[in-house]
Amino acid sequence: MDLCTERLLLKEMTWDDINIIHRLHQIEEVAEFNTIGIPRHTGDTLEVMLSALEDQHMKIRQHFGWTVWTKDTEEFVGEGGMHLSADRFRRGEIHYSLMPEHWHKGYATELVKCLIRFGFTELTLHRIQAGVAVGNGRSIHVLEKAGMTREGLRRKNLPLREGWQDSYQYAILEDDFFKE
Ligand SMILES: CC(C)(COP(=O)(O)OP(=O)(O)OC[C@H]1O[C@@H](n2cnc3c(N)ncnc32)[C@H](O)[C@@H]1OP(=O)(O)O)[C@@H](O)C(=O)NCCC(=O)NCCS
Repeated sequence: MDLCTERLLLKEMTWDDINIIHRLHQIEEVAEFNTIGIPRHTGDTLEVMLSALEDQHMKIRQHFGWTVWTKDTEEFVGEGGMHLSADRFRRGEIHYSLMPEHWHKGYATELVKCLIRFGFTELTLHRIQAGVAVGNGRSIHVLEKAGMTREGLRRKNLPLREGWQDSYQYAILEDDFFKE
């Protein structure tokens, strides 16, 4: 299930992507708000990728993971993914990380908008959400630019390096998306 935007190509993750994903998650700034910390070896990274890779063989999908590339020069930009709830909730939760050399280009917003569009139009979801550390201003900005609404704050639910941190809960509903 590959996807594309004006400037980006999203390819479903394969086992061959382990080294580039590992390299991405090893970067200090990328891992700053990551609850799994910096992976020490590729085995740690594989653990994170495993649900999306194994799920590709399932009839009913619950996990999607994509590597993200520039369409024109085929440079590796980062990764994005979506985890689906039990069917009756029709809910998806998204995540994403980009290589720092591709920050400040608008790619993250383009990627998040694409995941939202995919969730509502292809997966017929009712609600798409994301949690973000209160200190992660860049990601908060991306979620808001992509049309998500801040619904609340979870207290001290993220085990980050500096200790337990609060997170904001963001979401967009199918009604918000289709009325735009
Ligand atoms: C969070 C993260 C994805 C944000 O990336 P980003 O590059 O800052 O986000 P954007 O794609 O929205 O780009 C931002 C800026 O690009 C600039 N830009 C340049 N060209 C642009 C274009 N063609 N279109 C739009 N924006 C463009 C804009 O100035 C924009 O900032 P502004 O909206 O304040 O004007 C990135 O910091 C990251 O990977 N962090 C580590 C992992 C992480 O925290 N993930 C999220 C966990 S919740």
